[in-house]
Amino acid sequence: MSRKRLIKTDRFLILIAGILFAGISLAVVAIDAVPAWKNYQSEFRYLATEIVGEEDAARIPSGIQQIWVEDLDRVDRCITCHQGIFWPGFERAEQPYSTHPDMGLFDTHPASEYGCTICHGGQGYAVDLEAAHGFSKHWEEPLLSGIVASDYNLNDKNAMIEINCNACHRYERQTAGMPYINLAKDLIQEKACWGCHVINGYGGAIGPDLSDIGDRHAEGYDWSNFAGFASIFNWHMQHFDEPAAIVPETVMPKMGLQTRDRHAMSMLMLSWREENLPVKYIPGFVRKEMLYAHEDERREELLSGDGAFFIEKGCFGCHSVQAYGIKSPTEKGPDLTFAVDDVHVRFRQSLQEFIFDPSQSGTMSIIFSSKVILSDEEKWQLIDILTKANHKYKSDQPESGK
Ligand code: HEC
Ligand code: HEC
Ligand code: HEC
Ligand code: HEC
Ligand code: HEC
Repeated sequence: MSRKRLIKTDRFLILIAGILFAGISLAVVAIDAVPAWKNYQSEFRYLATEIVGEEDAARIPSGIQQIWVEDLDRVDRCITCHQGIFWPGFERAEQPYSTHPDMGLFDTHPASEYGCTICHGGQGYAVDLEAAHGFSKHWEEPLLSGIVASDYNLNDKNAMIEINCNACHRYERQTAGMPYINLAKDLIQEKACWGCHVINGYGGAIGPDLSDIGDRHAEGYDWSNFAGFASIFNWHMQHFDEPAAIVPETVMPKMGLQTRDRHAMSMLMLSWREENLPVKYIPGFVRKEMLYAHEDERREELLSGDGAFFIEKGCFGCHSVQAYGIKSPTEKGPDLTFAVDDVHVRFRQSLQEFIFDPSQSGTMSIIFSSKVILSDEEKWQLIDILTKANHKYKSDQPESGK
C-alpha cells in the first residue's frame, strides 16, 4: 500500500467515525430535548382532568398554539404553555396554567386583536421559556413581570405593565386600572413640567422634548454621574430624585418626589414612545392630551399675559409669582411678586441694579450668566413685569385698615 493510499483510508475511517459520533450526539440531544412546552401541555391536561373533567380536558388542543394579530404584526405563542389563560376554574393553579387574573380586560381588549405581548412584553414567537419571557440577549422587551418589578423594588409585581398600557392610553387624562400612570399624569400637571418640556406635542423649550423619550436608547443618556444598577428606568429614578446629581449643569429643579412618585414618573417616561399603531388601537382617536377643565384654564392663564415670561424662561422652576397665579414646584427662590421691594431689603440694591448685576446673589448670577441669558430689552421687560406684578398684587388685596 502506498503512503498516499494509507492516508486516504485513514481519512475515510475518520470520516465514518465522525458521522457516527455526530449521529449519536444528535440522538442524545433529541432524547434530552423534549421541548419544555410539551411537558407543560401534558401537565395541564392532567390538571384539567381533575378540575374540569375528562370530557372538557379532551378538548384541549396540543402542539404549538398561537394568536396571530396581523394589525400589530405579532405572533404570540404564549398560550402554548399558558393553556389555562382563558379557562375559568384555574384561578388558583400555578403558572403557567392559571386563568388570566383580569378576564375583564379581554372585553375591552379582545385577545384575538391584542395578543399578549402588547401588554406584557416578552418575545411572542418564542416557545422556550427564557426566550419567550424575553430574557435573552437580543430582545429588548423583557416580560414586565415580578422579576423586573423586584429589580426596582416595586411591591405590585404587575405594575410595570402600565408602561405598555399607556403606550396606547397616553392621551387619556386618567384610565381605570393604571394607578401609577394616573399618579404620574397628576404630577405632570401639578408641577407644570410642560412649562419647560414639550409633552404630548405641547409645552416650553427649556428642557428637551419628552414626546418620544421612551424610545431613547441607553447611549442617549449621560451616565457619567450615575451610580448603581445601570438601566434607563433607574436613570430616571435618580434624575427625578436630584436632577443636578445626574446632570450637574441642569436647571431642572429637585421637586421633592417620593419613591412612589418617582416610580410612577419613570414609568410614564418609558411609556412615551413614538406611536405607530393602527388607529383602532388608540382610545378615543384623539391625538391630543385630554385635560380637566381647571387644568386647561390654568394653562391658559399661565401662558397669556405678563406671567408667561416666568414660564417661558423657566423661572417658575424656582419662583412662585402669586400675582399671576404661578406656583413653583419647588419654591427655591422667593415669590417674585415682592421682588421690587424685597431686593432692597435683601441686597440693598434697586430691582434694576439687581437685574443688570445680580452678583450679590450667587444663585441668580449663575442663572443669569449661564442658564437664562436675557437681552437688555428682556431685562427691561422683566423689571416692568415685576413692578406691575407688585401693583397688581396690591390692588387685588381687599382694602384693609379702613
Ligand atoms: C415554555 C413555556 C412558556 C411560554 C412559551 C411562556 N410562558 Fe409565561 N410562564 C411559564 C412558566 C413556567 C411560568 C412560571 C415560572 C416563571 O415565572 O418563570 C410563567 C410565568 C408567567 C407570568 C407570571 C410571571 C410572574 O411575575 O409571576 C407571566 C405574566 C407570563 N408567564 C406571561 C407570558 C407571556 C406574555 C408569554 C408570551 C410572550 C409567555 N408567558 C410565554 C411558561 C411559559
Ligand atoms: C390588555 C392588556 C393585557 C393583555 C392583552 C393580556 N394581559 Fe395578561 N395581564 C394583564 C394585567 C394588567 C395583569 C395583572 C392583572 C392583575 O393582577 O389583576 C395580567 C396578568 C397576567 C398573568 C398573571 C401574572 C401573575 O401575576 O401571576 C398571566 C400569566 C398573563 N397575564 C398572561 C397573559 C397571556 C398569556 C395573554 C395573552 C393571551 C395576556 N396575558 C394578555 C394585562 C394583559
Ligand atoms: C394596543 C393598545 C392598547 C393597550 C396596550 C391597552 N389598551 Fe386599553 N384600550 C385600548 C382601546 C383601543 C380601548 C377601547 C376604547 C374605546 O372603546 O373607545 C381600550 C379600552 C380600555 C378601557 C375602557 C375605557 C377607556 O378608558 O378607554 C380601560 C379601563 C383600559 N383600556 C385599560 C387598559 C389597561 C389597564 C391596559 C394595560 C393593562 C390597557 N388598557 C392596554 C387600547 C389599548
Ligand atoms: C425649570 C425647567 C424644568 C422643569 C420645571 C422640569 N424640567 Fe425636566 N429638564 C429640564 C432641563 C433643562 C433638562 C435637561 C438637563 C437634564 O437632563 O437635567 C431636563 C431633563 C429632563 C429629562 C431627561 C430628558 C433627557 O432628554 O435626558 C426628563 C425625563 C425630564 N426632564 C422630565 C421632567 C418632568 C417629568 C418634570 C416635571 C415633574 C420636569 N422635567 C420639570 C428642565 C426642567
Ligand atoms: C434654580 C433656581 C432658580 C431659578 C431657575 C431662578 N431663580 Fe431667581 N432666585 C433663586 C434664589 C434661590 C433666589 C434668592 C436669592 C439667593 O438666595 O441668592 C433668587 C432671587 C431672585 C430675585 C430676587 C428676589 C428677591 O425677592 O430678592 C429675582 C428678581 C429673581 N431671582 C429673578 C429670577 C428670574 C427672572 C428668573 C428666570 C429668568 C429666575 N430668577 C430663575 C433661584 C432661582
